Amino acid sequence: MVEESFKTSSGKSRKRIAVIPGDGVGKEVIPEAVKVLKAAAAACGREIHLTEFDWGADRFLRDGTTLPVDAPEMFRREHDAILLGALGDPRVPSNQHGADILLGLRFKLDLYVNLRPCILFDERLTPLKNRTEKDVNICVIRENTEGLYSGVGGFFKKGTADEIATQEDINTRKGVERIIRYAFEFAVARGYKRVCMSDKSNALAFGHDLWQRVFKEVRSEYPGIESSHMFIDNLLMQMVRDPSQFQVIVTCNLFGDIASDVGAGLVGGLGVTPSGNIHPGRVSLFEPVHGSAPDIAGKNIANPIGAVLAAAMMCEYLGWNDIARGMEEGVRAAIRERATTVDLGGALGTRAAGDWLENKVAAC
Ligand code: NAD
Ligand code: IPM
Ligand code: MN
Repeated sequence: MVEESFKTSSGKSRKRIAVIPGDGVGKEVIPEAVKVLKAAAAACGREIHLTEFDWGADRFLRDGTTLPVDAPEMFRREHDAILLGALGDPRVPSNQHGADILLGLRFKLDLYVNLRPCILFDERLTPLKNRTEKDVNICVIRENTEGLYSGVGGFFKKGTADEIATQEDINTRKGVERIIRYAFEFAVARGYKRVCMSDKSNALAFGHDLWQRVFKEVRSEYPGIESSHMFIDNLLMQMVRDPSQFQVIVTCNLFGDIASDVGAGLVGGLGVTPSGNIHPGRVSLFEPVHGSAPDIAGKNIANPIGAVLAAAMMCEYLGWNDIARGMEEGVRAAIRERATTVDLGGALGTRAAGDWLENKVAAC
């Protein structure tokens, strides 16, 4: 654990941020996001206290540590937010540490909202023809604590020819209702006009029947929002064909995981999109949507923008809208001026892209 207090001259309100770079490109993009965050905080006269945790594959392979049992309580007590890179390493094929740390924090901190905006900052970043930000501005709101991720299931006769493996899809009324309600409240607060709920109730006749019934109840409370339903298979096809149909999409844990990668593909790839794991009013966790990207890790080519925008989302969550806006404006300028990594058509390495953003937000 490394602690660092970063004080600015005036320091209006101090926020305590836990930083978990994790594995692979997480260890490259998070230092850049932290650099940009510090510069933006300094420009706005804010004080942050950073505490870094070395949880990830190296630590797991060294001493077996994943998520310490007291970690959730420690974060609730001592931190305002968590900034995480990515978890996943080819040396840990079971991804046990990733599941314990990332899913562990989502579940144990009850971070039931996974907010994944997919915004087209520049039309040259989409594989679609003639599309601008007004056509591709989708927020995927993913249920984050239930569904097929609940960890309920098991093996019977494992490793034999008669093996049975089960994986239960857990959907609770409370869980489904709170995420659907969050989606409508989010739409109202952000001025979005449309909410689309996506499920697979034509095949999953119990769990997703609950989603159907709860959606009908909750939507009736928001007559000002145009609400619709689409089965997930059609939704993913429609997102690619004509993303302008969608503003807010609310869906279950697994479908939201998939839809948010599809959304990323529409706006420049996984290097660009951020994610907030949120329980309103409580310590929440922010991360890029991408993983540890072992194929490009250690080469100084990973795009830090997803991590920078995750840090910006974190600032917005903490009430630092000025810093969040400054960071997003910096990202828009970097994309406009092609001061980016190669995935977005630039020629900069990860560190140089971070330096550029750092200088840009410092001058805001
Ligand atoms: P991935 O997101 O790591 O990579 C998918 C593709 O996107 C790769 O081609 C990669 O090079 C590219 N990419 C990812 N991040 C990028 C960036 N910042 N800049 C440019 N290109 C980028 O997904 P994967 O390959 O399916 O998974 C790799 C590992 O990461 C696995 O262990 C997986 O479990 C884990 N994972 C973790 C998280 C997380 O921690 N939140 C998310 C997804 C995957
Ligand atoms: C994500 C990732 C995780 C998920 C994995 C690493 C468990 O894909 O955050 O999108 O499925 O939620
Ligand atoms: Mn994913």
